[in-house]
Amino acid sequence: MEYNDFLTLLKERRSCRSFASAEKVSAEDIEKIIRAGQLAPNPLNLQPWSFVTITAAETKKALRQAGEKAKQMVLDAGGPGWVGGFNIDFFEEVPLILAIVVDPKKGGLGDFFNQLTGSIQAGSACIQNMMLAATTLGLSTLWFTFFDPADVRPIIAVPDNLEIVGLLFVGKAAGDVPTSRRRDPVVYSDSFGV
Ligand SMILES: Cc1cc2nc3c(=O)[nH]c(=O)nc-3n(C[C@H](O)[C@H](O)[C@H](O)COP(=O)(O)O)c2cc1C
Repeated sequence: MEYNDFLTLLKERRSCRSFASAEKVSAEDIEKIIRAGQLAPNPLNLQPWSFVTITAAETKKALRQAGEKAKQMVLDAGGPGWVGGFNIDFFEEVPLILAIVVDPKKGGLGDFFNQLTGSIQAGSACIQNMMLAATTLGLSTLWFTFFDPADVRPIIAVPDNLEIVGLLFVGKAAGDVPTSRRRDPVVYSDSFGV
């Protein structure tokens, strides 16, 4: 693949917050997305991830409530006021939510030298792979973390010893997805800040 083709794919992936609810995601596409995720780099190839596919309306509703609660937590703690207007109707619209769960014990050797995030890093690479794979399948995605894990764990029965790296919304976009721009990169030579 040429760099420019890859760049086109990267630019096509945009965070989507409005989904066409009637358009289900096929079992084949779910498998393709998850298998792409599993190809991500990960410490010692321990593959710390597992996945929960969420399609049940009542589960999505419960997750939405966790999102609404998180919004209130931010507002109660004096966080930015715009959060109050952050509309999460997409919880009901989206046909599929994938929870990406990792086992912190499978983070490689980082525990020996103050790097405790190996499994989260692997889970993040996994999610990025999944988002790009979904894009090639004509699907849009949103990586969502706006929740207190303590509220989401019981809804999807994730044990306390595992971490939820994100909820990945997957579906057909309803309308155009806005482009988000990037600033020029900050790059230093040899020493940070130089
Ligand atoms: C770790 C992580 C957590 C995120 N959590 C949320 C979230 O909770 N809600 C949301 O609407 N977007 C969330 N996003 C999406 C970002 O807002 C989005 O990637 C960013 O604004 C850039 O836009 P783009 O993805 O369209 O390029 C998250 C992204 C990442 C990487």
